[in-house]
Amino acid sequence: MLNRKLLVTSALPYANGPIHLGHLVEYIQTDIWVRFQKQCGHQCYYVCADDTHGTPIMLRANKEGISPEELIAKVWGQHFADFAEFGVAFDNYHSTHSEENRVFSSLIYTRLRDAGHISSRTITQAYDPVKEMFLPDRFIKGECPKCGAKDQYGDSCEACGATYSPTELKNAVSVISGEKPIEKESVHYFFNLADFTDMLTKWTTAGHLQPEVSNKLAEWLDSGLQQWDISRDAPYFGFEIPDAPGKYFYVWLDAPIGYMASFKNLCDKQGLDFNEFWAKNSDAELYHFIGKDIIYFHALFWPAMLHGAHLRTPTAIFAHGFLTVNGEKMSKSRGTFITARTYLEHLNPEYLRYYFAAKLSAGVDDIDLNFDDFSQRVNSDLVGKVVNIASRCSGFIAKRFAGLLSATCSEPALFADFINANETIAGFYEAREFGKAMREIMALADKANQYIDEKKPWLLAKEEGKDKELHDVCSMGINLFRLLAVYLKPVLPVLATEAESFLNIGPQAWIAGIEPLLNHQINGFKPLMTRVDADKITAIVEASKENLEKTVDKPKVKQFELIAGTIDFDDFAKLDLRIAKIIKADHVDGSDKLLQLTVDIGDETRTIFSGIKSAYQPEDLEGRLTLVIANLAPRKMRFGVSEGMVLAAGPGGQAIWLLSPDDGAVAGLRVK
Ligand code: 2FM
Ligand code: ZN
Repeated sequence: MLNRKLLVTSALPYANGPIHLGHLVEYIQTDIWVRFQKQCGHQCYYVCADDTHGTPIMLRANKEGISPEELIAKVWGQHFADFAEFGVAFDNYHSTHSEENRVFSSLIYTRLRDAGHISSRTITQAYDPVKEMFLPDRFIKGECPKCGAKDQYGDSCEACGATYSPTELKNAVSVISGEKPIEKESVHYFFNLADFTDMLTKWTTAGHLQPEVSNKLAEWLDSGLQQWDISRDAPYFGFEIPDAPGKYFYVWLDAPIGYMASFKNLCDKQGLDFNEFWAKNSDAELYHFIGKDIIYFHALFWPAMLHGAHLRTPTAIFAHGFLTVNGEKMSKSRGTFITARTYLEHLNPEYLRYYFAAKLSAGVDDIDLNFDDFSQRVNSDLVGKVVNIASRCSGFIAKRFAGLLSATCSEPALFADFINANETIAGFYEAREFGKAMREIMALADKANQYIDEKKPWLLAKEEGKDKELHDVCSMGINLFRLLAVYLKPVLPVLATEAESFLNIGPQAWIAGIEPLLNHQINGFKPLMTRVDADKITAIVEASKENLEKTVDKPKVKQFELIAGTIDFDDFAKLDLRIAKIIKADHVDGSDKLLQLTVDIGDETRTIFSGIKSAYQPEDLEGRLTLVIANLAPRKMRFGVSEGMVLAAGPGGQAIWLLSPDDGAVAGLRVK
């Protein structure tokens, strides 16, 4: 169908921890699907946000001695940078702690309440008498009532698997204060999910869910739907319920509404029509990619909330399985609990994008990251097959034919085979059968390599009178490589873009109508991808173990040292310090301290907000050099995102000095 309108989301990551490889399965899966839709020319938006509310975030901020707002701003910057470097290209990355989300949460709640779907009643819960707060199940520990195992959480026993209520735990203590919890009453608000039993029975069997998910839901529906507790008492970091002072929406109430809030924020930035996507009669498609652990929220609560609030329901929910590493659950002690950042410090993110793509299917099975398999697949498929085609042919084109491709397509049938594969490959992408798509593409790469093996350009190059044939064969190879790059573009956007500049062509849409490049000038070839360095994998595992040691061994006083001014050499070594050239400087509306700088850091331009307005007029700065920290996580400020930090010296006011450039200092120079 032409001109589809799609809105796509991934689950909103909690703002209390770093992005890790387990998360990335989902973001990479969604991003590939979205990039494919966009490449096909559809109007497709991909939105996400940090999930910022709840007790754990409030308590972590307390522990760090900062406000929850400061904590979530810091984590937002880290998440945003991690996603960007993995090529996860959201159209908008917002926060559930946003005005849009407050408005929509109130609206949906009010509509549900007015239609009679909200009730309230008094319940009894565990309460920490020292901290004066109700305790979520995970914040109570004690002995399992079934097997007696010590140190078990308030909801289930990790030793025997029993589930129970926190009041059944023996010798229970509050994890926060260590005190024995007391029982305390309080009024809670509930969403009457059972009002939607008929609607959900139909919806969950109408093709919006994967078959295995739909079957699971039938079991839950059969056993009867319970009321859902949607309120929490103060102190709580979240939104206060409009008609209930001191009561807050439970984080899971406003989290999915965050999808709408992020999209509304995008609509306001880009002038899009929000209702076109969310009104009951919308003809747009709405997709949520999620992990299989949060199906209940997305396939029961969420459609019921939307339906009850007279909004459209999702077109489909796509659940995926969990990630295991080397066959086991990710583990800090084994060094397999790998954060996105640790990975990025050592390896090319496109390796992982390809590896996940090669393993992903439309089902909910877990996927395993096996490091040997990872290296082997990347080396043999991407480096050995795909990139190799270009490197085998480009040298002859450059040296013998001045970079100009032949004027004839010598093997039209082979070219047509490659083009004809597009429907099968597109079908696999559309159906999220990425593993099958990758196999299909690699079968084409094998064909291209066989063709080159048969034609032996390296021998043709030595024979008299074989110039035309050499030219044709190598040009054919380059043309086949080009189609592989088009097919791999959703998975490997950086490689595909570099291939486009090597081929001297514009951004490649999905295949329709593509003709071979004939009599076409290409650019010099640079290796587009190198083999996985096994030492880097070892380094990742070691660094991940170190993370554990750091968090376990380092006493809290370390934080103080950091603030007091001492850093380790390792911390210093992490800084990417560069000479940058200020290309443009502007005033920032509404700020009397900041200037907005556009700086050239050698391989890219960045926007940086810098508090140097007291010392400089924008026109004084253009063309000057300065030192910047290039790898500072981007920071969302009131005025925009700042992508680095300008370093300047001086006591402040008018006495702030940027670098005084010596001869030889040029943009991009690394300072170490
Ligand atoms: O499970 C999680 O990590 C949640 N933060 C996901 C929320 S998804 C959506 F509902 F917001
Ligand atoms: Zn037990």
